[in-house]
Amino acid sequence: MKYRIQKVSEKIEVPRSTIRFWETEFPELVKPERTNGGQRRYSEQDISNLQKIKNLLHRKNRTIDQARIILKQGNADAGKIDWQNQSILLTGGTGSFGKHFCKVMLEKYHPKVIRIYSRDELKQHEMRQTFGEDVIRYFIGDVRDGDRLKRAMEGIDIVIHAAALKQVPSCEYNPFEAVKTNIYGAQNVIDAAIDVGVKKVVALSTDKAVNPVNLYGATKLCSDKIFIQGNSYSGSRGTHFSCVRYGNVIGSRGSVIPLFREQKKTGKITITDERMTRFWLTLDQAVELVVNALCYMQGGEIFVPKIPSMKIMDLAKAIAPQCDIEVIGIRPGEKIHEALITEEDGRNTVAYNGMYVIMPNSSWWERQNYKTGKKLPDDFIYASDTNDEWLSVEDLKKIIYESSSVEEDPASRLLSTIHQLNEKVILNMLNSEERTTR
Ligand SMILES: NC(=O)c1ccc[n+]([C@@H]2O[C@H](COP(=O)([O-])OP(=O)(O)OC[C@H]3O[C@@H](n4cnc5c(N)ncnc54)[C@H](OP(=O)(O)O)[C@@H]3O)[C@@H](O)[C@H]2O)c1
Repeated sequence: MKYRIQKVSEKIEVPRSTIRFWETEFPELVKPERTNGGQRRYSEQDISNLQKIKNLLHRKNRTIDQARIILKQGNADAGKIDWQNQSILLTGGTGSFGKHFCKVMLEKYHPKVIRIYSRDELKQHEMRQTFGEDVIRYFIGDVRDGDRLKRAMEGIDIVIHAAALKQVPSCEYNPFEAVKTNIYGAQNVIDAAIDVGVKKVVALSTDKAVNPVNLYGATKLCSDKIFIQGNSYSGSRGTHFSCVRYGNVIGSRGSVIPLFREQKKTGKITITDERMTRFWLTLDQAVELVVNALCYMQGGEIFVPKIPSMKIMDLAKAIAPQCDIEVIGIRPGEKIHEALITEEDGRNTVAYNGMYVIMPNSSWWERQNYKTGKKLPDDFIYASDTNDEWLSVEDLKKIIYESSSVEEDPASRLLSTIHQLNEKVILNMLNSEERTTR
């Protein structure tokens, strides 16, 4: 059944001129058919969307920009990105992030294909045993090899760049290798994506790239800079580049939890500095952050989630309350606290409910969708020691002592708790209901 504009106007009680105006402002939501004589015919779906628009603009007093974001967000999973038709290339797909990304994609989003791009055939073989090869395909390749990357990106819509050398001591000890993988590798990804006509590229960054004190962080800072600037090279090819930046991922390879669990067996936990704090998030949240970034990116943003901090002493007490703690002194290239947004970046950052968006300071950038974001105070920084959200030792102890399964596997218990706590503050990106952050 299709309706004339007069009928729609009576049904939703707004003038015809308003309906025509909303039609131009929300072309994806209101798409009347035209008769041969050019008259509009509205579907039930058009009318339902018009009612939602009216509700937001007239009853809730939202601006057109806000309404656009809210309506798109409500449909973000299925609407903004048509996942079933997306072919994704995932560099570093056999790593902690990559494997979890594939799991979530297969369970929730159902993309056409995910191509894994990494060097080690054993890790790919193991992944094949778990995930099969119907949707996930496995490419052996090094991000240092631009030709191979270009071949792997043929027919690809979305690239997620997770490949990196990420162990601080190993990057210090092998500096040229870190530069080749993390910087030249990033450049190769950008060049290949532009040459092949990929639509969107999201690169994974880290808090270590903020005011870096080690080579790993410095190479990731270079990588961030060249990804953001990649937008000015893509020209008519229209490839968009953005980054996501976050702190420690609980349960990823090389995280502190497995170390504490091992040390617990000896009755002694080693800590480098008692004052140390860190941002924490789960792999689920890291994946969801990338999905959200892909949904909302215009190209040029660094998306930073609002996530809680934890004191390293609390983590040690939570995992092994009965153990002695030995303080062994800070390691080279280690910070006592980490930051995700510097004061300088803060000036170009807007805040949303679960997320900060750092915008580039470039002439090609237009704020467009981020007008609804809350501007931050001039001296704003987002650091792990001055965070508003904390995981307390009480939160952690409670779980450890209340559950019988915890003794067997405290780390996985922690993971789920931290995940639940984190859920309070992350996700729902670009929700225009702003929360005071500091
Ligand atoms: N884990 C964290 O706490 C954390 C926090 C913030 C940001 N990040 C960022 O998130 C990303 C993913 O981290 P992750 O924890 O998943 O790392 P990971 O578990 O160490 O995995 C790294 C992946 O990169 C691949 N890789 C390494 N060098 C490569 C090269 N030259 N060419 C192609 N592939 C290469 C590895 O496979 P092969 O060795 O087989 O090539 C592996 O698949 C990284 O960019 C990291 O900087 C991680």
